[in-house]
Amino acid sequence: MLSPARLRHRYHDAVFGKPIYTADLVPSDAVYVKAVRSRYPHALIKRVDISKALKVEGVLRVLTAADIPGVNIASTLIPDRPFLATDRVRCIADPIALVVADDPLSADQGVEEVVVEYEPLKAVLDVMEAIRDDAPSIHEGGNICRHYKVRKGDISGGFAESDIILERTYRTPIQEPAPIETEAAYAIPKADGGIEIVGSIQNPFYVRNGVAKILGLQPENVNIVAAALGGTFGGKSDEAPWDVSAMAGLAALTTGRPAACIYDRDESVIAHSRRHASHIRYRLGASRDGRFKAAEIEIFYDTGAYASVGPLVLMRAIVHATGPYDIENVKTDAYLVYTNNPTAGSFRGFGNPQAHFAAESHVDLMARELGMDPVELRMKNILRRGASTATGEVLDEEVSLGHALQLVTEKIGWDRKDHHVSPEIKRGYGVALVYHGNSLGPEGEDIAEAEVVTTPTGHVIVKTSLTEYGTGSSYGLAKIAAETLNIPEDRVIVERVETHTVPNSGGTFASRSTLMGGNAVRLAAEKLKKRLEDMARESGREGISLLDFISEIGEEISERAVFKLPVCDYDPEKGYGRAYLQYTYGAVGVIIQVDVQTGVVRLEKVVGVFDVGRAINRQFVVSQIEGALTQGAAYGLLEELITGKMGKILNPNFADYLVPTAADMPSVDVVILEYPSSLTPLGTRTIGEPPICGPAPAIANAVHDAVGVRIYSLPITAEKIVKELKKS
Ligand code: MOS
Repeated sequence: MLSPARLRHRYHDAVFGKPIYTADLVPSDAVYVKAVRSRYPHALIKRVDISKALKVEGVLRVLTAADIPGVNIASTLIPDRPFLATDRVRCIADPIALVVADDPLSADQGVEEVVVEYEPLKAVLDVMEAIRDDAPSIHEGGNICRHYKVRKGDISGGFAESDIILERTYRTPIQEPAPIETEAAYAIPKADGGIEIVGSIQNPFYVRNGVAKILGLQPENVNIVAAALGGTFGGKSDEAPWDVSAMAGLAALTTGRPAACIYDRDESVIAHSRRHASHIRYRLGASRDGRFKAAEIEIFYDTGAYASVGPLVLMRAIVHATGPYDIENVKTDAYLVYTNNPTAGSFRGFGNPQAHFAAESHVDLMARELGMDPVELRMKNILRRGASTATGEVLDEEVSLGHALQLVTEKIGWDRKDHHVSPEIKRGYGVALVYHGNSLGPEGEDIAEAEVVTTPTGHVIVKTSLTEYGTGSSYGLAKIAAETLNIPEDRVIVERVETHTVPNSGGTFASRSTLMGGNAVRLAAEKLKKRLEDMARESGREGISLLDFISEIGEEISERAVFKLPVCDYDPEKGYGRAYLQYTYGAVGVIIQVDVQTGVVRLEKVVGVFDVGRAINRQFVVSQIEGALTQGAAYGLLEELITGKMGKILNPNFADYLVPTAADMPSVDVVILEYPSSLTPLGTRTIGEPPICGPAPAIANAVHDAVGVRIYSLPITAEKIVKELKKS
């Protein structure tokens, strides 16, 4: 159990190495399991020979699909991904066999000795090649895994009314979530035939249900314990934690010993989900006076070999694809496309950063075409209260976009731009607006359950399935319980998350912890308060403080509550209806310096203004915005996971894959707006993800402002800028 006092100092704890992560908790008698993964991006498996591997000293077992007691499927939405490949591999991440050994080194040696005979097939590694008729089919039914549409108004009429029509294509690369801790889990077989799995697990109930199916157990016989998480950023939101948990679980069940599965860095990069690479065609029509008339957008997201949560990522992309603008006529088609790249999936922002890069670059470019100020053009077209989004959702609450944009332009000195630094260095200014649907919306019905329990020691325990991975959300839950019960925060304890003991509050994703969990905790705490007050009255202790009464009764009193959001009526096939119940709005501004000879971009200032509805804890809100802006700026300038011609990832480590360091970031200015949402008692809006959408387009716009060239693909590297400067 973690006390809020500890959680409050969590960042310091992490700096001093205090949290104990899964790899350090593995029992000393545990065996280790390592996966044999495909050598080819696309091949038939002709033969697997494990005999040599079994002779390696220390190797105990080599497991293949034939050893799976349950179902050989490890997929969230579409049953397209086997847990262990049998006859075919579709990307280099595909596991074919598992080597179980006394120690990790022996397991590695065993992996080397497993002989797999392949018949290589033609691989397709580019999303636009994968949709061609002559492309090899990666799954039955072709390579288009999903096609979603949005249709609003009269698209040809809208373009006919336009004075200027601007068409461009934008591309974004694969971004690696780069958690500091790699995926890890260990399993302990239980006497009753069940199993306990401890791991770096973001969504314990999802992992429990997925792993139970693979292991042929009832979910109730699988206890998932979430250990400290050393970061996730969405990479641990979908299927990678199932894999390590099921691999450890299978090894434990077959050997009868505790078993651990811990990914090395390169294995982690190859095997977990990453941001979808994208190709977005954007066509926008506007009147001479700067009103947007029509937007026609085609979106292609590379899901890699399997769908994972890609259909949901695509849905978020298509809903937000027009940017936060009031446009009467919209036609959008979004395609999720199979390739032989390793699988993409959930990653902070969930499809929205790609869409925002295209939309917010394009709007800026339109301003230049019209000879208008980019801020003025945005102000003219932003969504306001009463306007309808691309999917026809009428915004019936105050929309704070204008306020955010005004503050951001003031903060970066938009009206007193000074482009001159030196003859070689030009300064540039850029802005981008952000909007991000809260919680699940069209992705599914959203429900969270929470429990609060008094203890004989005079404490209150909060139980949810929401894990803490650095956002401070657990502290938020504790604070909400303390405020509702009117007891000191240090009397609230946030229970360790394990599926046997906490209610199912849904996943720790979609930035929903405080929105969904916070409201569920509040409802449960209100019930508890009322019950305790009734008990006090009945026992003649009316007027006693709740805290004194909790200590006095000396027993466990528990209340549970469910918080549920109304269901959205969005129809993904038609692309129409209410997609999200509320949005987070914000604006990002950057000042950059570009070296005109080398093309090197240096960030001088980054500003984020975000409307969080209500800040439960300002320090954590600021940290989330700073972190997301940093990860977003790195998406703009540095990060790109590169797949080579053989479908291998060429930079699966932090020497070759550039994550930002303190040296890459200037100080970040954060302004918090609080336009409370009327949807929930707490009034909060989500904030963990939205700011990541802003920096990349703001930087692209600032580069254009500084040196007059437009970069249409991320990351915005020095090479690309120099190439464009030479042309101009
Ligand atoms: Mo997140 S990308 O919803 O874990």
